[in-house]
This record gives sequence, structure tokens and C-alpha cells, in this order.
Amino acid sequence: MSVSQPVIQTRNLCKALPIGGEQLQILENISLQIERSEMVAIVGPSGSGKSTLMGLIGGLDSPTSGDVIIDGVNVSGLGERALTRLRNEKIGFVFQTFNLVPTLNAIENVMLPMQFSRRQWPNARARAAEILTMLGLEDRLEHTHKQLSGGEQQRVAIARALANEPAILLCDEPTGNLDKISTGLVVAALFDVREQTNTTIVVVTHSLELAAQMDRQIELVDGRIVDPKLLAGSGTPDSFSV
Ligand SMILES: Nc1ncnc2c1ncn2[C@@H]1O[C@H](COP(=O)(O)OP(=O)(O)O)[C@@H](O)[C@H]1O
Ligand SMILES: [Mg+2]
Repeated sequence: MSVSQPVIQTRNLCKALPIGGEQLQILENISLQIERSEMVAIVGPSGSGKSTLMGLIGGLDSPTSGDVIIDGVNVSGLGERALTRLRNEKIGFVFQTFNLVPTLNAIENVMLPMQFSRRQWPNARARAAEILTMLGLEDRLEHTHKQLSGGEQQRVAIARALANEPAILLCDEPTGNLDKISTGLVVAALFDVREQTNTTIVVVTHSLELAAQMDRQIELVDGRIVDPKLLAGSGTPDSFSV
């Protein structure tokens, strides 16, 4: 694998859904590249296709046409089993709703993906504690979801997503249910993750303030990438990569 190879690449990605007897275009010709350890925001109005794009990048959904290439592997060519394996090994998901297992404490929630992994984690408990500590939760290891604030639950969810050491962390509106203070702590945690693990992080967010803190913003409107060059009024290319 070459050093310069993007960890995430999409080529002319399209997604259409049959709705009311017609094909509704949800995403059109999305071509983008995201490099290792980049932290990228995906912004755009509600319904612009952000979650659909995350689902395609993460292999939760398949495109109508076009390619998703993760770490040099074209996902479109993979069967269901290989796709599941790639998803488990390469990608961590964080959603707006934290989805912790309510009967398990923080450390057990983080251990769960390690227990289901093909990879052997002989020190799963210690590793879970280490990730939670990295995210500032060293005093919350034995707490269950009811004993945790929203921001703490989301940081446990981030720790769980990192359990199998994914190359990519996909976060869909991770602070959508959080107040300002918790949002700040979760965002700081994401920066710590990037700093300490070189994980590539993609964050869908409504918050322009949050997006502005990332390395780069990709804006979607009506299923298309808005070209910043177009906004600057410097020409109208037919296609472009970001
Ligand atoms: N399973 C589905 N069935 C019908 N419409 C869908 C489905 N999934 C997404 N859509 C439509 O696709 C568009 C993009 O949705 P989504 O990716 O969730 O947008 P965003 O995350 O930016 O709010 C919306 O118009 C939404 O209504
Ligand atoms: Mg969405």
C-alpha cells in the first residue's frame, strides 16, 4: 500500500431510491478523497444526503452506481461476508443516539466489539479501560448508561467504535443530542483520538462552528457536493474531486 493512497475514496457515487414509482436521486456523482488521519466535516441541509453518504462509505448500504474504495479495496466488488469483515475491521460508527447496551457498564460496552472480532484481544478489559481513559472517562469505567450524562454516553460510544482499532471513524451527528458543554467535551475527545491513534475521522454535523474546527468541510446540497470554487465564482467545471 502506498503512503499517499487515500484511506477513503469515492468515484462517481450515485444512489437512487424507488419512491412512488419513480427513481429519486439521493446522491449524484459524489467523488471525494480523504487521507489518513484527516478530520473532515460533512455539512449540508437536512435531507441533502449526508447520512446516505456515510452509509455508503461505511458499507452499510450499496450504491446504485460508482465506487467506494476503502484503504485501496473497492468495496463494490466484495461479497456480503467480505464486506462485513471489512466493516468490522476498518470502520467504527458513532450515531446521534448513543445505543449503549443498557445492562452493561462502560467497560463492558467497549469490550463487546472485541469479543465479536476475529482478531484476538487477550487484554480486552485493559484495552477498553485505556480507550475510555484516553476519552477522559477513567472515573466512569463501571458506570451504566443511567449513571452517565449524554456526553459521557457518547464518549463511551466513541470508545466502543474504536475498540477494534478501525482506520476510519464515521460519526453521524455525534453531538446532535448534546448541550454545548457536552458537545465541547465530545469534540475534544475526537481530537484526542486523532492525535493519539491517527484514525481518519469523518463527522456529519449541522453545526458550522463544529465543522469549522475540522481540517476540511465537504458540503452537500440536494445530493451533490458543492464546489467551493463555484461559490468563489471561479468557473463551472463539470466534475471535480474534493
Ligand atoms: N430509505 C429511504 N426511503 C426513502 N427516502 C429516503 C430513504 N433514505 C433516505 N431518503 C431520502 O433521501 C434524502 C437524503 O436523506 P439523508 O441521507 O438521510 O439526508 P441527511 O442525512 O443529509 O439529512 C432525503 O430526502 C430522504 O428523505
Ligand atoms: Mg442524516
